Amino acid sequence: MYKIVEFSHVLIQAHYHHLCKEDVVFVDATCGMGQDTLYMAELLHHQGQIVAYDIQDIAIMQTKQLLMEKGYTNVTYKLQSHEYLSEIADLVIYNCGYLPGHDKHLTTKASSTLASIQKALEIMAVNPDLLIILVLYPGHPEGKTESAVLDDFCQKLPSSAYLVCKYQNYNRPTSPYIITISKNTCNRPIH
Ligand SMILES: C[S@@+](CC[C@H](N)C(=O)[O-])C[C@H]1O[C@@H](n2cnc3c(N)ncnc32)[C@H](O)[C@@H]1O
Repeated sequence: MYKIVEFSHVLIQAHYHHLCKEDVVFVDATCGMGQDTLYMAELLHHQGQIVAYDIQDIAIMQTKQLLMEKGYTNVTYKLQSHEYLSEIADLVIYNCGYLPGHDKHLTTKASSTLASIQKALEIMAVNPDLLIILVLYPGHPEGKTESAVLDDFCQKLPSSAYLVCKYQNYNRPTSPYIITISKNTCNRPIH
């Protein structure tokens, strides 16, 4: 089966095919080394738009270089916190945590990730096709706090409005896991 990050890509691919349109807007809310941005660019095949956020210069530079080398020009780079998310997106992925090999203090934090997800939910009210994917890392101290806060928030989202799913290695409780949020289009609670 898939590792968790691989599984986030499976979800991106499935959502893209489900959308059945070319002019999609996909957001990488934490572009880091650019691997998720590159995955989306390869999937979209020069169609649509990708927006890549990160708070670190090095992350934006690495991602830009990687995507330019591969010839992808349909990417906008934003050196700013994903709290400023504003795109009417069809997909937003938060691959949380810190940039491997760099300052571990520059990790995603519960308060800013939560603020961004609240923005994404406002966007979902405008675009019910939006899929939010959170990849969480409870195996380091800040990630543990962030995961707990986001778990609590996501669990409390009303099931009449949102479909919220969790994908986890059942036998590895501190390993990374995924939460997805999408609109419950049935408009009634899910049992
Ligand atoms: C695990 S890395 C992301 C991996 C990346 N998606 C990839 O494919 O290589 C997490 C990234 O989140 C960034 N980050 C931390 N806080 C952020 C914030 N508030 N807004 C945007 N990015 C943030 C970090 O700088 C780091 O590059």
